[in-house]
Amino acid sequence: MALKEINIRYEEYGSTGELSAGDRELVEAAVEATRNSYSPYSGFRVGAALRLSNGKTVCGANQENIAYPSGLCAERTAMFYANATYPEASIETIAIAAVYRGSLCEMPATPCGACRQVMAEYQTKSGRDMRIILAGSGKIMIFHKVDDLLPFLFDSLKQESI
Ligand code: THU
Repeated sequence: MALKEINIRYEEYGSTGELSAGDRELVEAAVEATRNSYSPYSGFRVGAALRLSNGKTVCGANQENIAYPSGLCAERTAMFYANATYPEASIETIAIAAVYRGSLCEMPATPCGACRQVMAEYQTKSGRDMRIILAGSGKIMIFHKVDDLLPFLFDSLKQESI
């Protein structure tokens, strides 16, 4: 038996003022996108903003449904739209923000497992690391690649078939 260990590195900032202009704009777009959340059941308004390799910024917000599983998170709404609209472009950075009871959440909203798997898919597809910015009013976390949020991500099918 060998005991293995993995390390995850991320950057932490105290406010958007510490970010680069490009990252700050993307966070602002994610916060703005929360306005388009359709979340009558949870009241949790999530926004995602993507910076694409073609220079475009694409946004999404969570969309809920009375049949709960039929809804979709902000991140996947944005990523599916981006890939359906600009299939040749890669997602360089995704910024995520959440508003609850009218205020930006203090702690950054961390993406669900399904959204992480979809991020992994597009990162693998493009062959380029996807940066992830999780923005809260109390702190901002920046991850440099999806692997840091989803270690041991599922890509066995790809390994076997190539
Ligand atoms: N939600 C997202 O949009 N993104 C996440 O990363 C986590 C959760 C949404 C799903 C649902 O509409 C609401 O937040 C409450 O779970």
